[in-house]
Amino acid sequence: MNQTKLCQDTRARSSLPKKEALRRHHLAQTLRMPLKKKPSALNADTYALNWQQEMIVIKDCRYRPKLARPLIRWLLRRECKAYQRLYGTELVPEWLGWLDKDAFMLRYVPSIPISKLDTRQLIQANLKLQKSVEILHERRLFHMDLRSGGNILVAPGGRVYLVDLTSMVKLKPWAVPFAWCFRRWDEYGLQKWVWRVISFLAAREEILSIKNRLVGF
Ligand SMILES: Nc1ncnc2c1ncn2[C@@H]1O[C@H](COP(=O)(O)OP(=O)(O)OP(=O)(O)O)[C@@H](O)[C@H]1O
Ligand SMILES: [Mg+2]
Repeated sequence: MNQTKLCQDTRARSSLPKKEALRRHHLAQTLRMPLKKKPSALNADTYALNWQQEMIVIKDCRYRPKLARPLIRWLLRRECKAYQRLYGTELVPEWLGWLDKDAFMLRYVPSIPISKLDTRQLIQANLKLQKSVEILHERRLFHMDLRSGGNILVAPGGRVYLVDLTSMVKLKPWAVPFAWCFRRWDEYGLQKWVWRVISFLAAREEILSIKNRLVGF
């Protein structure tokens, strides 16, 4: 799908047009909240902003070195395709369209990354995450970057959102016999969060046993 077609498609589906459309020149007058700790030359900026009472996330490569920009644009287009494939599902934040050829927009999800959850929240999130990844795999889609805590967002009600779809792979039907290795990679990502629960619980057991021993004194 070429860039123009993609823009038309996404504008048609976007829920923004009823209000004034956000344009690049508006960004200069709007307060932006960076969502990434460490910007890198080969990665887009990710920031949130409030546009006409709606919180929007923008992934933007406009201010990256000129030589690196074509590659980052290609990555953004790849990611955009992945968001479009999952448009309307509950797995990812809502896709809102391209700002221009250097940036796309998503609906902001009030959430915390899975890496910041406590034990109880993490147990629930793990169950939902497993389900989401199963749904993804049924569609022959593989996230491929589930070990990064920032890529799994958990909303206050417990709903899990997957973001950062740059590495997502969509297997063609003829490639299905190779699905196991992509599935395995995602499972390896999921294991990290299961192990975290286990280590939290093990640490709690240990603290309890130390406490019991101290009380015995
Ligand atoms: N729709 C959203 N709602 C809320 N927060 C979001 C949304 N999309 C992304 N974020 C936050 O922004 C951060 C960066 O986004 P993303 O992972 O897509 O960018 P990235 O360039 O791959 O960053 P990184 O290199 O840190 O992984 C995420 O870790 C997440 O916390
Ligand atoms: Mg990320």
